[in-house]
Amino acid sequence: MALDKEYRKVPGTTIFDSEQSAKGYHLNQFCMSLMKAENRERFLADEDAYMDEWPLTDAQKQALRDRDLNAAMREGGNIYFLAKFGATLGLSFQQMAGSMTGMTEQEYRDMMVGGGRSIAGNRIADVAVPEVERTEAEIAAAQEQDPMLDAVRANAAADDSVGNATITGAVFTSHVPAIGAALDLGKTEEPYWKAVFDGYEFSKAWEQDNLPDVVFLVYNDHATAFDLSLIPTFVLGTGAAYPAADEGYGPRPVPGIEGDPDFAAHVAHSLIRDDFDLTLVNEMEVDHGLTVPMSLMFGQVDTWPVKVIPFHVNVVQYPVPSGERCFKLGKALRKAIESYEKPIKVQIWGTGGMSHQLQGPRAGLINREWDNAFLDRLIEDPEGLSHVPHLEYVEEAGSEGIELVMWFIARGAMSDVEGDGEIEVVHRFYHVPASNTAVGHLILNNKPSAAAAAKE
Ligand SMILES: [Fe+2]
Repeated sequence: MALDKEYRKVPGTTIFDSEQSAKGYHLNQFCMSLMKAENRERFLADEDAYMDEWPLTDAQKQALRDRDLNAAMREGGNIYFLAKFGATLGLSFQQMAGSMTGMTEQEYRDMMVGGGRSIAGNRIADVAVPEVERTEAEIAAAQEQDPMLDAVRANAAADDSVGNATITGAVFTSHVPAIGAALDLGKTEEPYWKAVFDGYEFSKAWEQDNLPDVVFLVYNDHATAFDLSLIPTFVLGTGAAYPAADEGYGPRPVPGIEGDPDFAAHVAHSLIRDDFDLTLVNEMEVDHGLTVPMSLMFGQVDTWPVKVIPFHVNVVQYPVPSGERCFKLGKALRKAIESYEKPIKVQIWGTGGMSHQLQGPRAGLINREWDNAFLDRLIEDPEGLSHVPHLEYVEEAGSEGIELVMWFIARGAMSDVEGDGEIEVVHRFYHVPASNTAVGHLILNNKPSAAAAAKE
């Protein structure tokens, strides 16, 4: 299923979507830097020297040198960002807008005074001609008239891979920071920790045999990337790289995370169109919530063997999302992933939990019975389990047990949920304790029915 981007057909118009944003990320951030007087002065004193401080492409630099805002937008610029560039040059917004129309400044001003550009002749139907009925010369002529559309078509034509993305499995695991510390400090053979790490020996071997291209990793940030100045409920990482954060003990000695901006942009488009109002983040440090599961599943490596799309869920400050909402998000995530037109393998990981309380007189609370019933129902009746209210997590699994709602995003994306496939439990592990918590871990193979797989 191709995504609906009909807006690309509107003549003389560039919609700034996630793909454009990824393309123009550094260009737009460069423009933002011009909000500081000191940077404006440095730019005006030596434009090339200042631009060289930014990872801009040659085409982006040339567009700026030429004062060609249409070219800058083709290269991913957005007008609100480019306006900082225009302002630095002393241009008004009207001068900037007019410069993109092929009219003189006076002609543009006169047109606006005369009532503005007419909608007549500027609708999709006025320029859209069915591709099949056009000769190459006609297409070339149309593209010359509308270079924006030309760029979009060129991008689409360049993508010649065959097949769609598939979800191959789900991994559920606690992400206790002390596990990371035990690994980093070489304590894995100590009896206390060996009992934990033994539960992941199978998992590491399984990952080697079932290595995906991308892990969609659901976790929560623990007052690391997001403090109280910004509290987004769902955050999708659309960036290229995510360094490991310093959480107060120095950064973990683990490799940085490589993102997948193109795939993430696709997922963002699909999920937001399905009414999940995500926050998109291009620059973010990731904490133990993400790096500990990576270490557990891939061991100590110099480079992670997969790309990762980080997905943060706020479970720190109430209100936090419900299990039901996360389960529905998982279903929408499946649709998003399976509509991505590249034949990549994707695993979805749900992390956090199991029962733990890190605060107050009830600190150290562990409820084995509840945890194991949760694992049973997550396998057999995830939809029913998703209706468990927050109060039950807090009361039965401890205040931080609420992290378990994140597991529903991974579970909701499995084929059996929609009745067109099955899951296979390949590994299950439960252990107490790891520091203050119980450790729970589950691996599911996703087995879409033949019909569902063919549809992909
Ligand atoms: Fe956590």
